Amino acid sequence: MDGAALFAANCAACHGNQGVGGPLGPELQHPVRDYSAWVTRHGRAMTTFPAPMLPVAADKLSDSNLEAIWDYLDQPPQPTSGQALFLDYCANCHGADGKGGPTGRNILNELNGLKTLVRQGAHGGEFEMRREYMPAFSATRITDTELNLIYTYVESL
Ligand code: HEC
Ligand code: HEC
Repeated sequence: MDGAALFAANCAACHGNQGVGGPLGPELQHPVRDYSAWVTRHGRAMTTFPAPMLPVAADKLSDSNLEAIWDYLDQPPQPTSGQALFLDYCANCHGADGKGGPTGRNILNELNGLKTLVRQGAHGGEFEMRREYMPAFSATRITDTELNLIYTYVESL
């Protein structure tokens, strides 16, 4: 299954080349797979982008097609700066400025719990709860060193 071709045909018009993001859709690199699959299947009715994301049914793209797309979106190298890590893993939900975004959760004043929360997540599996669900990121996805870089970056905002 060719994830690059599937993504180019179905997603890149809004999400940019290999998921870099653009004016019509957010950055998608290094996706959290269960959450990303849920959004793809259910769409997003509410958005600040010009048009919402529509649901994509399994007869159009199978579960294995989606896995191939996630593999493709995982290919770019891990970012190395705190800012780039934040934009990759956190900004879609908390805003590029950390002040809320779609979750309405300003994280600039919640630094004490940041590292624990990134490891544990919140309301696991309740993907539809935009203001409550946060993914858990393991140390294989975001290392302790990278988490410290993110922390320092958020502290600087
Ligand atoms: C018509 C434009 C459009 C197309 C085509 C599109 N999307 Fe989206 N997608 C969006 C928008 C807009 C959002 C942001 C919704 C929001 O505000 O939360 C989004 C959000 C997402 C998210 C959630 C990102 C996050 O961090 O919360 C995923 C995952 C996603 N899209 C995957 C896909 C995949 C996979 C495809 C192709 C099969 C696709 N999208 C095609 C517009 C599009
Ligand atoms: C898919 C969306 C999503 C992503 C991605 C995400 N978060 Fe969250 N985050 C949330 C939600 C929703 C909450 C509120 C959780 C709750 O109910 O306590 C939250 C809460 C927080 C809080 C506590 C703020 C408060 O109001 O209690 C911090 C700090 C935080 N996130 C940091 C991060 C960092 C750092 C990253 C990136 C590594 C990140 N988040 C990625 C959705 C997300």
